[in-house]
Formats: sequence, structure tokens, C-alpha cells
Amino acid sequence: MSASPLPRSCVVGWPISHSRSPLIHRYWLKANGIEGDYDRVAVPPGELPRFVATIGHDGLRGANVTVPHKEAAFAACDRLTDAARAIGAVNTLWRDDGLLFGDNTDAFGFLGNLDERAPAWRDRLDHVVILGAGGAARAAVHALLGAGAGQIVLVNRGFERAAALAAAFGPKVSARSWTEITKLLPIANLLVNTTSLGMVGQPPLEIDVSALAPSATVCDIVYMPLRTPLIEEAARLGHPVVDGLGMLLHQAVSGFERWFGVRPKVTPELRALLEDDILQAGRKPK
Ligand code: ATR
Repeated sequence: MSASPLPRSCVVGWPISHSRSPLIHRYWLKANGIEGDYDRVAVPPGELPRFVATIGHDGLRGANVTVPHKEAAFAACDRLTDAARAIGAVNTLWRDDGLLFGDNTDAFGFLGNLDERAPAWRDRLDHVVILGAGGAARAAVHALLGAGAGQIVLVNRGFERAAALAAAFGPKVSARSWTEITKLLPIANLLVNTTSLGMVGQPPLEIDVSALAPSATVCDIVYMPLRTPLIEEAARLGHPVVDGLGMLLHQAVSGFERWFGVRPKVTPELRALLEDDILQAGRKPK
């Protein structure tokens, strides 16, 4: 009798070599004494359907999905969670009874990160300003509405994209132009950057955060570098700050639980492992 294959999962994207998900899931496999594996799989654009057909075979329990496949994964699923449907994208796949299921755990990860790093953020949620209007902004809006946010203002380089996103979420969400940022900051309780500005290799995010009220929480979903100029400046001014690493860690929790049957913990040790990896990558010559 042949032994059943070890449980495994993976992250699919294009490119994928930069993904830190294996570091996270392998840490949890070891911490929980589970014999299994988690890899990176490079899947070229257009080839996701061929990949998802392999889920459910040879021990492959499911997959995480990253750029550029999140919308294709959404389209490939037989069943979607409410979060996936609201966000219009899937980052976690598994198969059950032959059917392909998809979830989007980015909103959960976004909230888990804020709760862990700046727990008082939920005390003041009347006014939120989100920079950006892409997939990450969509997940943040879904998360914040679920958390009871009052008014959410989206500010994006391309105004039309912000207006379309706001319209999709109803009256609590509105769009304003990029030039209005400074006017919006004094009443914001929470400022979130979901653009790629401030990321390694991208232009800096040039906004004057001194207009924020002292109690306002500042969150950047960029985690490379860990301390973006936005986070550095906000911390210098005494704001509660939340970097992007925790979102990556917390969004991984429910996929691991589905594939390997144990709800894993985001521990300080795991965070330190990732911080170290990010610092090392930052030091490598380009
Ligand atoms: P994600 O899924 O990570 O949100 P995305 O959908 O590509 O990625 O969205 C990237 C976001 O960063 C968008 O809000 C984008 O603004 P546009 O919609 O105007 O393109 C923003 N962004 C990227 N580069 C930018 C730049 N140089 N200046 C301002 N905003 C930028």
C-alpha cells in the first residue's frame, strides 16, 4: 500500500521568487510538528486555470495567490467567501468535495495587524483617509466598514479609480483628489497608505503628516522597507504607527488552518524571523 502524500501548499504568482510566504508557513509547520511543505510556484499570466486543476491532488491542499493572479483566482472558484466576493479577488484557495473554494484574507490581515500593533485604533473610527484605490485599498475599505468606520475618504493619483471604488461601497465611502490630502488630515483618526509609494525602488510618498491630530494612527501596508519614510515621520511626531509586515503575517493564518488543520499563531518570534529576512534583503546589492 502506498503511503498518502504529505500535505502541502504553496504560493503562486509571477514573479514569485520574492515571496516571503514560505518562511511563514514553514515556521508554522515546524512549530506545530506537522510533516508537510509549502513552496513558491511560478505561474505565468493566463495559466492559473491549469494550476488550480492540480489542487486536491498529490497532497496539494490549496494555495495562496498573489500578483497578478488574484482576479483570475476569483474567476476560477466554484464557491467564494463573503470577503472574496466583496473584494473581488481571491488570495487563498482550497478544494472540498471536488469544488474549488476561494477566500480573501487581506481584510482580516489588515485588521489583525492594526489590532496587534495599535489596539486603541478602534476607539476612534469616525474619519479614515486611505491613500490608493487598487486591490489593497479595496480590502482595507471592506475591513474598515466591517469594523464600524464612519466616513472613509479615498485619495488616489487617478481620481476616477477612487471614485469608482467609493461608488462600489456606498455612502460611507467617498473620493477626493490627491491635492486635497492636507485638508483632509486634521480630522482623520486613521491614515492608511495602500499605494506602492515609499516601497523600495518606488518614488517616495510626499505628504505632510504634521497636519494630523496627535492621536491619529498611521498605517502603511508597505513592509519593504519595514520603516517607510511615512512610518518614520509619523513615529517621530508621536503617532501610533503600524507597519505592513503584520498584515502579511495575519493574512496567512486562515489558509494554514484550512490546509493543515491547526490555527497558527502570529508570534513575536515569527515577526522577528521576517524582520530579519527583510533587513537582509535590504542590504543585498541590487
Ligand atoms: P494593489 O493591489 O497593491 O493595491 P494596484 O492595484 O496596482 O496594487 O494599486 C496600486 C496603487 O498605488 C494605486 O492606487 C496607484 O494609483 P493609480 O490608481 O493612480 O495608478 C498607486 N500608485 C502606484 N504608483 C504610484 C505613483 N507613482 N504615484 C501615486 N500613486 C501610485
